[in-house]
Amino acid sequence: MLSRTAFRAVQSRSFSSSAARQTKVAVLGAGGGIGQPLSLLLKLDPHVTALSLYDIRGAPGVAADVSHIDSASHVTGYPADKLDEALKDVKVVVIPAGVPRKPGMTRDDLFNTNASIVRDLAAAIARVSPEAHILVISNPVNSTVPIVAETLKKAGVFDPRRLFGVTTLDVVRAARFLGEITNADPKETVVTVVGGHSGATIVPLLSQTPFGKAIKGEAYEKIVHRIQYGGDEVVKAKDGAGSATLSMAYAGAKFANALLRGLSGEKGVVTPTFVKSPLFEDQGVEFFSSDVELGVNGVENILPLGNLTPEEQALLDACIPDLKKNIEKGKAFVA
Ligand code: NAI
Repeated sequence: MLSRTAFRAVQSRSFSSSAARQTKVAVLGAGGGIGQPLSLLLKLDPHVTALSLYDIRGAPGVAADVSHIDSASHVTGYPADKLDEALKDVKVVVIPAGVPRKPGMTRDDLFNTNASIVRDLAAAIARVSPEAHILVISNPVNSTVPIVAETLKKAGVFDPRRLFGVTTLDVVRAARFLGEITNADPKETVVTVVGGHSGATIVPLLSQTPFGKAIKGEAYEKIVHRIQYGGDEVVKAKDGAGSATLSMAYAGAKFANALLRGLSGEKGVVTPTFVKSPLFEDQGVEFFSSDVELGVNGVENILPLGNLTPEEQALLDACIPDLKKNIEKGKAFVA
């Protein structure tokens, strides 16, 4: 236990060092099912010095509520017509704006609505805060990330080191589900999940973890399916009221924290994320999720996949053509 004086010293130290850095983070879609708990979790992150909450509805109310929490960061809410103000001086922008799935829908079914929402938000970021790091949560991530990239390119401000599709929920689920079937703490069952973020494009590399490599046969098929389609369990249980929001907010805050740690100079921060990647460019796949080292400029280093089992190779072979189609669809939308 820390003494009261030591606790205060730690508190003031972490406050002054983070305050000196001034890391303003914006959430676009802050009034939604993900946006609200994500805003709450970002308010608790000591790396965030200011929080800018924007939505076409409800953001000032969420901001007023979250602003009463006793952490140092300053919170401001912005209504529909104040997007540019919300984006001023932001270092990181997280985008959970858009519609979620209903039972029976795939993530691709959201394309028609979410593509234009994401494109318009990306155009505003390009205009107001072109150097911001952008974290895309809005689905279909396999297409919305290329949409943001193309929009930034059109504006002449695309830097691939600063654009991320948030696939952390797949990583969180994989650790949890593997922990469940092996009776291990999920901290010990962390799985690298690569590829994209929908169905067959989600490729867990179970063989690369001590607990995962023992899983074979039917148990292997089952856990792979659960990692790929875990989102459907939530959509079904919510019965028309949407998709994962709380676990997604947790995953979004976890990824934002990893990025903020990298940006602040911490070394060795590695996590899977969907970025512009050379790994499968020769097969026409411009964006791919794999372990990425995060640093002061965002993407520091894209790590190779390592050894795959024949089963994992088969999953990857199924991922590539789907992912390629999803990426092309996003690019075509902006062109
Ligand atoms: P929701 O409907 O509860 O919230 C979406 C919010 O976006 C609403 O408050 C809405 O007013 C706002 N919005 C709509 N258009 C906007 C615009 N132009 N500017 C700013 N805000 C706008 O939906 P929920 O459950 O929060 O999901 C949001 C998105 O996240 C969906 O596309 C969903 O598919 C996706 N998602 C992604 C996951 C991932 O792993 N990357 C996991 C779960 C959901």
